[in-house]
Amino acid sequence: MAGLPARRIGGSVICLKETESTNAVAFKLAEEGGVEGTVVIADAQSAGKGRLGRVWLSPPGVNLYCSVILRPPISPVAACQLTFLSVVAVARAVEACTTVTPQIKWPNDILVSGKKVAGLLNEMNAETEKVNFVVLGIGVNLNMRADQFGTTLRHPATSLFEAGGVEVNRVQFARTLLAELDRLYEVFLKEGEAPIRSEWLERSRICGRGVKVSCGEREFSGVVEGLDAFGALLVRLSDGKLETVLSGDVSLIN
Ligand code: BTN
Repeated sequence: MAGLPARRIGGSVICLKETESTNAVAFKLAEEGGVEGTVVIADAQSAGKGRLGRVWLSPPGVNLYCSVILRPPISPVAACQLTFLSVVAVARAVEACTTVTPQIKWPNDILVSGKKVAGLLNEMNAETEKVNFVVLGIGVNLNMRADQFGTTLRHPATSLFEAGGVEVNRVQFARTLLAELDRLYEVFLKEGEAPIRSEWLERSRICGRGVKVSCGEREFSGVVEGLDAFGALLVRLSDGKLETVLSGDVSLIN
């Protein structure tokens, strides 16, 4: 209808009380032809999936667990660019809904005071040349209490409540996040990933900083020069060589 803003993401939202994983539900829906922009949100996940086969803690009623189906007209190698989009959308939503300052940690973590508050897991179905669909999975620790994190996490984690001292309204947070995702996805489709990558870089404040990189057995240090169009971190070593870091653990050293 003329005059109404077109909403691609969040046109259809499926809310579940509990599921194994919103990513698994959204993936199945997408395989069955689910339309672009469909969102699956759950109050709790019994088998929330994290990256690298890890578990994502998903207790009921306190956090946001959501997955979005996208069908971008891009090649599989470009699909990692959608990670910038989720990271920037989460950072914007945190700023809009709380007084907490989010920090971005490459490649796709959102931290507060050095502890993880949100994680992103993109899963893709693609052919050699084209993406059929991508599921953007987003988990944000909104109101989880410190004692709900247990003692088995590999990296320190927190919630926006623990960091800011104020309960976050889950519905308002979800609405804000989906609106930001929608805005950024329209930019992505019209102008490509560059403007979003540039906001990512600005927010991460990582350019020009010294970092230590661990990739499997290998460790090295250098100064970050930026990100390439596929999200790899560009690190200048002391001998002048430029390393393109596709995966690994990166920590700031100054
Ligand atoms: C990470 O390891 O940092 C990624 C965590 C991603 C968690 C979210 S919660 C909603 C969606 N459903 C899942 O099973 N995982 C993602």
